[in-house]
Amino acid sequence: MPLPSYALGVMEASAYAPEVFARGLPSSSWQQPSEDSAEPTGTVAGGASPLLSLQGIGLSFGGVVALADIDLSVRPGEIRAIIGPNGAGKSSLINVISGVYRPDRGHVQLDGIFYAQVPTQRLAHLGVARTFQNLALFKGLSVLDNVASGLAYKVRSNFAGQVLGIGRSRAEQRHSLSRAEQILEFLDLAAVRDRLAGTLPYGLQKRVELARALVAEPRLLLLDEPMAGMTASEKSEMAAFVRAARDRFATTVVLIEHDVGVVMGLSDRIAVLDYGRKIADATPEEVRNDQRVIDAYLGVASDNEDGAGI
Ligand SMILES: Nc1ncnc2c1ncn2[C@@H]1O[C@H](COP(=O)(O)OP(=O)(O)OP(=O)(O)O)[C@@H](O)[C@H]1O
Ligand SMILES: [Mg+2]
Repeated sequence: MPLPSYALGVMEASAYAPEVFARGLPSSSWQQPSEDSAEPTGTVAGGASPLLSLQGIGLSFGGVVALADIDLSVRPGEIRAIIGPNGAGKSSLINVISGVYRPDRGHVQLDGIFYAQVPTQRLAHLGVARTFQNLALFKGLSVLDNVASGLAYKVRSNFAGQVLGIGRSRAEQRHSLSRAEQILEFLDLAAVRDRLAGTLPYGLQKRVELARALVAEPRLLLLDEPMAGMTASEKSEMAAFVRAARDRFATTVVLIEHDVGVVMGLSDRIAVLDYGRKIADATPEEVRNDQRVIDAYLGVASDNEDGAGI
């Protein structure tokens, strides 16, 4: 069946994520798996060791099962999409991977290290960066400062040094700004570097968020609906930037997106969630022809070919 290539993105409230994320989490959450835990083999089909590996992830909110027994292996350098209807658990999965949510069951393994939850302050040091479903920029700061803030975790100078702008803090600040300038060039944002982020059109704000996540050259980049609410041409531009970022920085990308046409063209593999369960995990071609996926998601998408979204 032909696949729709129109915008299916629906802006949905997930406003809790940035606040929870900003609050920080205890470093004691780093742990080795317990002795009775089912340890992963450390390899995925195709031979390459996964950069990211999830085993048996379960997460509930009261009576709502957001994730049920999710396994996922993401190879280094892969662009991996997660798709599924609204409420399927996509953002919850990214929130588990990024440490915002602690799963009730299962393990997350990043490059061989197990964790139940990544402490926020260590997440960036491990090479993980993310964007949020709803924009989480500092709207009153310039684009340049927003992007440089993606390197704040590296600043080691003490508080007095930062306030007075002396010593190592000044050098660190210069370094952050220069890195931010480079990323702005890379994402074709240099012309708006001095604009307040909140004054930019929505599509550009999404790109600034990508820039802030990319500035640290993360090993794992988690993008929660980076193209939601964009026009078709903005989406293809964004898709090209995501691909270019993967190629330039050898970044592994996990991406949630509702626009099936974009996902099919951009991803190496696609995991499909429905009611918190993974119902498919395969190449775009295989997913396109999977009857379960068509019934749960793609069929609904086709019924909305006027772009109404789902
Ligand atoms: N912090 C939370 N508190 C309560 N329920 C939550 C929370 N986070 C997620 N949920 C619930 O878990 C389920 C999965 O939500 P999630 O946001 O992961 O879905 P999604 O696939 O990202 O949907 P969308 O496409 O609309 O963004 C939903 O029923 C949602 O209401
Ligand atoms: Mg979501």
